[in-house]
Amino acid sequence: MSASTPPHIPSARGQWGSRTGFILAAAGSAVGLGNIWKFPYITGDNGGGLFVLIYLVCIALVGLPIMAAEIMIGRAAGKQPVGAFEALHGGKTGWAVIGWLGVFAGFIILSYYVVVAGWSMDYTLKSISHFTDPIAERADEDAKRYRAATPLAVMRTTLIERRADHESTEPVAELRARAPKAAWNAWDKYNKAVEAALASGADADAARAVLFEDAAFAARVETAERLHAQMAQARARAKSDAEAYFGAMPDRQVRDEAETYQRRQHIAEEVGAAFGQVVADGWTATFWALLFMLATILVVAGGISGGIERVTTILMPLLIGIILVMVVYGMFQRGFSEAFSFVFSPDPSRLKASGILEALGHAFFTLSLGMGAMITYGSYQRRKEPLFKQSIAIAGIDTAVALLACLMLFPIIFSYGQEPGAGPGLVFKSMPLAFAEMGAGGMLLGILFFGLLVVAALTSAISLLEVVASYFIDQRGWSRNKAAWIIGGSIFIFALPSAFSFDPDFAMASWEPTFGKSFFDTMDYLASNWLLPMGGLLIAVYAGWFMPRRMRDAELEGLAPLVIRGWLVLIKYVAPVLVALVVLQKVGVLAID
Ligand code: PHE
Repeated sequence: MSASTPPHIPSARGQWGSRTGFILAAAGSAVGLGNIWKFPYITGDNGGGLFVLIYLVCIALVGLPIMAAEIMIGRAAGKQPVGAFEALHGGKTGWAVIGWLGVFAGFIILSYYVVVAGWSMDYTLKSISHFTDPIAERADEDAKRYRAATPLAVMRTTLIERRADHESTEPVAELRARAPKAAWNAWDKYNKAVEAALASGADADAARAVLFEDAAFAARVETAERLHAQMAQARARAKSDAEAYFGAMPDRQVRDEAETYQRRQHIAEEVGAAFGQVVADGWTATFWALLFMLATILVVAGGISGGIERVTTILMPLLIGIILVMVVYGMFQRGFSEAFSFVFSPDPSRLKASGILEALGHAFFTLSLGMGAMITYGSYQRRKEPLFKQSIAIAGIDTAVALLACLMLFPIIFSYGQEPGAGPGLVFKSMPLAFAEMGAGGMLLGILFFGLLVVAALTSAISLLEVVASYFIDQRGWSRNKAAWIIGGSIFIFALPSAFSFDPDFAMASWEPTFGKSFFDTMDYLASNWLLPMGGLLIAVYAGWFMPRRMRDAELEGLAPLVIRGWLVLIKYVAPVLVALVVLQKVGVLAID
């Protein structure tokens, strides 16, 4: 009779050994690739400052209350997500669907998470073998040769073109963002039609007229055309600025700059060749993913306090230590103040409306919310722990790490001439470049940095496997060992298509041309844009409106009435409405761009 037995009785279920153990494990789940890999690049993509501010608001208004709700549900039920809702209602209930969604999401997320973690392991090792002096030395030699053999005029032209490209990237991107995607699609279609007409000798004007019968289409093309002209102007302006700049520069300095540029190019090529390889080589990616999965399985098989808690209480302080070392290093870089103001000073002109929704979606991913990870971890907790304080501590650590990650990354990015808006490759492409450019010291930073990524990923992967495995332990009576190995093994098999996603020799590579996204990205998209926000919405609605009052009040007992009231407002109204907006945007009902 599960309904009448006090569910938090220790029994055969594991329990955290201490309060800090729980907080570190939960923070370990939250702090992961989302903080160090994803947050910096989406911050870069969304222009910094204002995006960060909105993200912080999302964490406070949506993330925190749902975090408390998940911990509360887990703690009250003493069960993992599928069983939790049944335990709270004393029998079958439709709310168990939240649990099923969570188990499914855990399976999906872990399957591509191990692949990214595997890349990080490979990069850690390569940092050891590749970032030794030779790359920098070879680059030096190559640059000297270039300087000796290249005519001054050629050097000047190369520098001008590069500077013009560099300076016009941002204004051009900004102009592009001023029109919706539909306008650019229309513009492409229009240009292709005109080209085709010209090529086949048909009448281009007639082709144009046919297309323009659709007034909406014509308006779109016009918008794009106007912006396109402005882009061309921006490029021309950048070009003439660059010409003036290098025209006035003494010859000697031009040679110096050209040499530096060549050196960078060389490094970029060599590092790119060495590092891009793991992504494009399915077997290597699989090997590392397997190793990482084995580590995850071993920890989960070790149990709650003996495995997860023990490992996270060692790894979390280590992780924070490494980050601090790297932030301190960043503070002494020339790019630090630029990086600081990029991350912290809000500039409305750089943010798109869709960035608001991206910030909210990311709040779920980064706090491990919406799939029951916190329900599961909460279920191994004794009652009467300070619920809100714990939630604040966990979310606080996660947020601090995300901000620190930006403060360690962007100074290096800015100091070594990389682009902040480089996209998902920011960590995997730009950072190795910057490290290589630093020479021998970069080798050490590279090891630290990618090692950090592996550690952060491991403590999150553990929680993902735990959510799925605990279903089989709690609901199906499997032993922990059996569950960890069988479930971990199955997820690994499911990770193979992700590992081979970018390998041109395998059929998986054709997923992208067929479906528009690689298999890997499809999994990430499915989980972060659908499963987590939907799960989060359901959890908020459940905790705010449907959780049995008696159970909820028991969990809230002893907390300040004002705090409880504030939480209720957030969980009942604010969080569901905001999340519903994201879901509607994803469905396409709301077209905010
Ligand atoms: N929070 C983890 C990260 O930021 C990812 C994660 C999502 C882990 C959901 C568990 C559950 O990388």
